[in-house]
Amino acid sequence: MKHQNDNSRRDFLKKLTGSTAAMAIGSAALAGEQREKYIEFLSRQRYMANDNINIALIGAGIMGTQDTITALSVPGSKLVAVCDLYDGRLKEAKEKWGQDIFTTRSYKELLNRKDIDAVIIATSDHWHQQISIDAMKAGKHVYCEKPMVHSVDEGPAVVAAQKETKKVFQVGSQGVSSLGNEKAKQLLKDGAIGALNYAEGFWARHSPAGAWQYPIPADGNPSTVDWDTYISNTTKRPFDATRFFRWRNYTDYGTGMAGDLFVHLFSSLHFITESFGPNKIYAAGGLRYWKDGREVPDVLLGTFDYPDSQAHPAFNLSLRCNFVDGTSGTTYLKLVGSEGSMDVTWDSVTLKRNKSVDSDDPFMIEQMKRAGKPITSRKRILAPEEYTFAAEKGYLGGPYDHFVNFFTAIRNNGKVVEDSVFGYRAAAPALLCNDSFAKDTAMLWNPEKMQIIKK
Ligand SMILES: NC(=O)c1ccc[n+]([C@@H]2O[C@H](COP(=O)([O-])OP(=O)(O)OC[C@H]3O[C@@H](n4cnc5c(N)ncnc54)[C@H](O)[C@@H]3O)[C@@H](O)[C@H]2O)c1
Repeated sequence: MKHQNDNSRRDFLKKLTGSTAAMAIGSAALAGEQREKYIEFLSRQRYMANDNINIALIGAGIMGTQDTITALSVPGSKLVAVCDLYDGRLKEAKEKWGQDIFTTRSYKELLNRKDIDAVIIATSDHWHQQISIDAMKAGKHVYCEKPMVHSVDEGPAVVAAQKETKKVFQVGSQGVSSLGNEKAKQLLKDGAIGALNYAEGFWARHSPAGAWQYPIPADGNPSTVDWDTYISNTTKRPFDATRFFRWRNYTDYGTGMAGDLFVHLFSSLHFITESFGPNKIYAAGGLRYWKDGREVPDVLLGTFDYPDSQAHPAFNLSLRCNFVDGTSGTTYLKLVGSEGSMDVTWDSVTLKRNKSVDSDDPFMIEQMKRAGKPITSRKRILAPEEYTFAAEKGYLGGPYDHFVNFFTAIRNNGKVVEDSVFGYRAAAPALLCNDSFAKDTAMLWNPEKMQIIKK
């Protein structure tokens, strides 16, 4: 099949020499050759706005607070209301953003307000679907944290609600709006790594907070927490502060390492390759260290088959997540092709391109001559050429750009990349890792139709 990314090395080089931001610095002696190191700086224009978009936050914990700070740093946004099920968060919200902010435990009360244009949904995962649908039906634009849904069967209703209401709906894997992801997408299109055949990504951590052992507030009890509402869409149990404040560790509320972290890598990979996703998903893992009563693994591996499609050739993906990693603190995404590879972050792309040349080994040349073979028949691989594409100093980052894209779509009646269909296609293979792990079998998925294939 002909793929839209089937460009050659020549396309890439043509663009490279035309770039004004590029420069070659220094030179390195590699394998006896002089090599220039190439660096190009990536930049963005400042965002401006003449009016205010009124926003509200639902779920004012770690990420909701961070999202709101980011959203308010974009010109033309104003926070009017905050909702949370724990009173401590509402108190903190007023201290941070002013006593005149409207606060409530009920998201439905917040959605009834006419002065809100858009909501940020940053609750635990098991509330994303219901609140997203209710919010769009109440006429609000939605920025919903990842993963878009808590289980694969929840996705179609969100897609349908967005289609029906025509609201701007954006999922919060902020990397897809970053300069680094955009550059990687362009490089792949220009043929910089040849034909894609493999990708890999990982998250490595080794700390209690990194492994989701978050602090439990001393005043977290049934009078300050609306536990009944929290569990109203899942298994009924008596109040449990550990479950409420460390919800990621329990399958009723969280989506494990795959839903929490793999989903970011799927989002970036799908954005860069324009892929709809894998058709075969297999996960393995276990609970090795953080044995605190959690129901989810702390080491997880996923392998994925991506079928040949219009966007890309067939390739394989390998993801892993380790909360007991002695090297710790690393996130990583690499795309490998027939002519090179790219290490992709939100702020940079490091491109390595292989180069093979005729042998210059005198012994080999002599042997070849004696054997009567042309000396060009044996090649050797040189250390790869390296190109760095890095965001310029002062870049405001992927999270900022993600809110700029969200607000721009609201203002222009436009579209966002990470809409409900994109969000579902990124969440589904991550969530199917959980199903694969639980059932100890590979899951089959039709990424185009967004349907599980029964075996
Ligand atoms: N994009 C990212 O980089 C990123 C990073 C971290 C977390 N997240 C996502 O953000 C979401 C929140 O994660 P967190 O770490 O902030 O968790 P958190 O526990 O710190 O915050 C969640 C908040 O939601 C509130 N809540 C839960 N159900 C609610 C409901 N029905 N109505 C109102 N409030 C409700 C809780 O009381 C809590 O304060 C998760 O979906 C997570 O996956 C995204």
